[in-house]
Amino acid sequence: MKKIIGCKIVRLKETDSTNRVALSPEYAMQPPGTVIIARRQTAGKGRKKRVWYSEEGGIYMSILFNEVDNFGFFYKFAILAALGVKETLERLTHDFFFIKWPNDIYFHDKKICGILLQSTTQGESNRVVIGIGININNSVFNLPEGIKEKSTSLTDITGKVYDIENIEADILERLNKYYASVENGDFKFYLPAINEFLYKKGEYTEFLLGVNVRGLKIIGIDEEGRLIAEDRNENRLNLDFGEVL
Ligand code: BTN
Repeated sequence: MKKIIGCKIVRLKETDSTNRVALSPEYAMQPPGTVIIARRQTAGKGRKKRVWYSEEGGIYMSILFNEVDNFGFFYKFAILAALGVKETLERLTHDFFFIKWPNDIYFHDKKICGILLQSTTQGESNRVVIGIGININNSVFNLPEGIKEKSTSLTDITGKVYDIENIEADILERLNKYYASVENGDFKFYLPAINEFLYKKGEYTEFLLGVNVRGLKIIGIDEEGRLIAEDRNENRLNLDFGEVL
């Protein structure tokens, strides 16, 4: 299989944010699937302008795509990236992990991995970066109050210490396979695996729809990667990214 994801790997000891580096003009000419990995980040970014605490021991990587013309492709790929990380975590722990739409990973009610999809337009060209942060050997007990209660890491789950580079290689191999799957139009074949382990499936959760907050039941993910939710009158909605509170 042709290697796209990880065709080139740039390793940094420390940086502010691998997503920021990946989208910087210096990386505009890099081949699609170039990966930037840092051992720690001083200003890791999370969704909704949150901080992603990134001390040594975690995995912080960004996969970069230049000259993008189909964002929908990357929405799907980011969901399969979550599936790939979930599989790696399950292989290491022999336990189950859940995907919280669109692409966080949870162990019971605690988050272990976050994925941040960002894009920029520079001149004629759209660029996309998929940033993945996973808590591995970094205990969440060092995280600030209010976050640590809702977070976990591999070492907190099992008490073991892991070989980070080995895990990175395993994840990149799975992501390369899933990239080819999205290219081949095979995203839909993975929906059963994703929907079986969809966090809070069947439960009512709060969503931001326009200016209103509504409680909707999570039903599953559709063939475009949107979340299917249902109101109390059993009306179905297919939600785009960014609407979960
Ligand atoms: C989230 O759950 O809010 C998304 C977190 C994404 C964190 C990763 S770590 C590597 C990459 N670089 C960043 O600055 N953020 C992403």
